Amino acid sequence: MHQYRMTALETEIRRIMHNNARESRGYRYTVPSPELYPFQWLWDSCFHAITLRHFDLSAAKDEIHAALAMPLPDGLLPHIIFWKDDHRIVNWGRERRGDIINNAWGTEHTSSLTQPPVIAEAVRILLDEHFDRSFAEAVYPKLAAYYRALITERDLEGRGLLGILNPDESGEDNSPRFDHILRLPAAHTNDEHLDRRIALIEQHAACAFEERCMQPFFWVEDVPFNAIALVGLRALAGIAEKLKQTADACEFNTYADTIGTAMRTYMLRGHCFYSIDRTEGTDTLIPTKTWALFAPLYAGIATDEEAQMLVIHYLENEQEFGTPFPIPSTACSEATFNRDGFWRGPTWIAPNWFIHQGLVRYGFHTHARTLAERTRALLAQSGFREQYDPISGNGLGAHHFTWGGLVLDMD
Ligand code: GLC
Repeated sequence: MHQYRMTALETEIRRIMHNNARESRGYRYTVPSPELYPFQWLWDSCFHAITLRHFDLSAAKDEIHAALAMPLPDGLLPHIIFWKDDHRIVNWGRERRGDIINNAWGTEHTSSLTQPPVIAEAVRILLDEHFDRSFAEAVYPKLAAYYRALITERDLEGRGLLGILNPDESGEDNSPRFDHILRLPAAHTNDEHLDRRIALIEQHAACAFEERCMQPFFWVEDVPFNAIALVGLRALAGIAEKLKQTADACEFNTYADTIGTAMRTYMLRGHCFYSIDRTEGTDTLIPTKTWALFAPLYAGIATDEEAQMLVIHYLENEQEFGTPFPIPSTACSEATFNRDGFWRGPTWIAPNWFIHQGLVRYGFHTHARTLAERTRALLAQSGFREQYDPISGNGLGAHHFTWGGLVLDMD
């Protein structure tokens, strides 16, 4: 029975990945959703590669090649690539967004922002499946350039924490973690939110895309971004070692250690890690409880006791994240919790994938299995949607959305 269900699920995942596959200028990539997200996104492509490796390793590698194809002038990888110069075909909520993105996101074919740096870990996962030396050699210099650019451009005073300069860089565009910096009350419209993010994009353009110029306007040392960077740097160091780049391996491992230490030094309060607002020279912990609380487990920087506390007080707690269809993106106890607000309550499958890995890492195998089961239950009930109501399990947002493919990695 289980075997049969898994096979049917796999067939559906293959179908979505196939239907969402695109080709342009000699590159192959996958769009997260044909109607709402018809471009290439950076962290989505990492999820795609991780999913595709289960049945088409060559497509998985192509996805990575495409994601690395158009670095920004300072070496960062863009969060969106508009392969077909078709920016204007999408209206994310309102008409003017297409134009603004076209005019203000700076570079000709891409966005000027980045997204959580999952890519080196995605490559490590592919290489663990099968060590393809020529693939490793082809992607390694580009990966190294990206992580080095993150360190140069985003670690303000070398204290070991990377900053993001727009909520979109967290991958959680409307997360309540950023409300106070955007000067938004708990209740606001999506248009009001979008206005604030567009203003930041315009400011970034006015800064001639000089990264640190954004600090007076928006600068957050975000927990998941740094946890993901740490894992990415360790993966990159491992790839460097395999390619006999010993000095590089040492450099990336050292910086991964630095992030881990800095996260514990600056982000830890009690047994939880919180993102830090550094906007306008501030240095304030952001207390909002979101799925980010669990990201340190993915990076392995929490102690066993902290992990235990997280599981008891937050994961299992029905007042917090223990909903029928976990993990809600924002805790139920938050004033900003909204069952169908974008990143303000609904369950998203990529965070579940990160959390699942964290639970396995700390030996919470039963909890990990339950999370995988509940995630598969979402797909069975509501199909491959962008997000899900964490209480009813109803699907929300984009259709034919690819992130559900990550369940192949969760058991
Ligand atoms: C939304 C999500 C972001 C994702 C993108 C494409 O903007 O917030 O995380 O990368 O859609 O799926």
